[in-house]
Amino acid sequence: MAELRLNALKKTFGKTEVIHGLDLHIQSGEFCVFVGPSGCGKSTLLRLIAGLESVTSGDVMLEDQRVNQIPAAQRGLAMVFQSYALYPHMTVAQNLSFGLENMGMSRDEVASRVNEAARMLQIEDYLKRKPTQLSGGQRQRVAIGRAVVREPKVFLFDEPLSNLDAELRVAMRSEIAQLHKRLGNTMIYVTHDQVEAMTMADKIAVLRAGQLEHFGAPLTLYNRPNNLFVAGFIGSPRMNFIPAQVRAGTLQLTSATIPLAEHFATQNDQSVVVGIRAGHVSPSEQAHVHLTLNSIEQLGGETYHHGQLEDGTDFTWHCVGQSGYRIGDVIGLALEIDEIHLFDAETEQTLRKPN
Ligand SMILES: Nc1ncnc2c1ncn2[C@@H]1O[C@H](COP(=O)(O)OP(=O)(O)O)[C@@H](O)[C@H]1O
Ligand SMILES: [Mg+2]
Repeated sequence: MAELRLNALKKTFGKTEVIHGLDLHIQSGEFCVFVGPSGCGKSTLLRLIAGLESVTSGDVMLEDQRVNQIPAAQRGLAMVFQSYALYPHMTVAQNLSFGLENMGMSRDEVASRVNEAARMLQIEDYLKRKPTQLSGGQRQRVAIGRAVVREPKVFLFDEPLSNLDAELRVAMRSEIAQLHKRLGNTMIYVTHDQVEAMTMADKIAVLRAGQLEHFGAPLTLYNRPNNLFVAGFIGSPRMNFIPAQVRAGTLQLTSATIPLAEHFATQNDQSVVVGIRAGHVSPSEQAHVHLTLNSIEQLGGETYHHGQLEDGTDFTWHCVGQSGYRIGDVIGLALEIDEIHLFDAETEQTLRKPN
């Protein structure tokens, strides 16, 4: 078990700074997911923690020890990559035992760790096969097994499921979550997939262009996003955003005036963005907005209605069941007042008062 701290961590490649002074505290035994769009610095951050990249400034602290200068092999961490990185000429058993033998571990100890990991990951029947004789999912299990046998303080996963088809990804997701429950190790898991982040994480770190936008439990990010970016990134379909103005204690939309809740800190005439999730509006005689439908996704058990509001804003309404609306219909929708999020239009920060 190990806790991990990043203090004012910076990384530059040449003249380009890609991690801009990042602070993060991951507690011992936590499953932490780094999520964010492609190129935001997730892999770089993981490689800094692993020791595969040098730190430009700041600290990587593992169990209260500064490990900036400690080589990757001596940090006691194990990394699992998207590409599996298995040795093609070795059997599964050899792939699992290779690193341990290099560390000078006894044969008995190696055998017992390999067998234990193979049992845990259900790859016992494939130990004599070569990686080419395995499916994608089996290969990824071997790659995870190779991390497990090292009994690391911290597991680092970099988009390990990206090469797998959708069904297998869901299955492996839950296997990795179970592995975490069984072993109890600190794990850091990188993905660009917010569903993976929501379903697997104890804590999610949302990254954007080398900055930490929000760090917290999945439902905290969903229910109380720090800013517009996190609000739009976490949750599917994406949260709807409607431009508005604060006027005399109300929210002025193009089409309606909505009461302004007391838990928001605003100024008169402030330009704001109202956030509302697709499931938190419903057809009403007292409509706040009118949605002109230009596409409908009928899934049988639920329906997504996409289109534009009167001010041209893209908008999605989601309902359970089948609605019977058609493309071109105009639907009057009322927002659930208690479910409104509010952000400053310029800074994009939440206007919700701290609890
Ligand atoms: N070795 C490198 N040399 C120069 N630039 C790099 C290097 N590695 C990553 N970068 C840049 O750093 C940024 C973050 O990359 P990366 O950490 O791979 O993002 P992510 O994993 O979130 O997709 C990108 O702009 C990328 O081009
Ligand atoms: Mg990456």
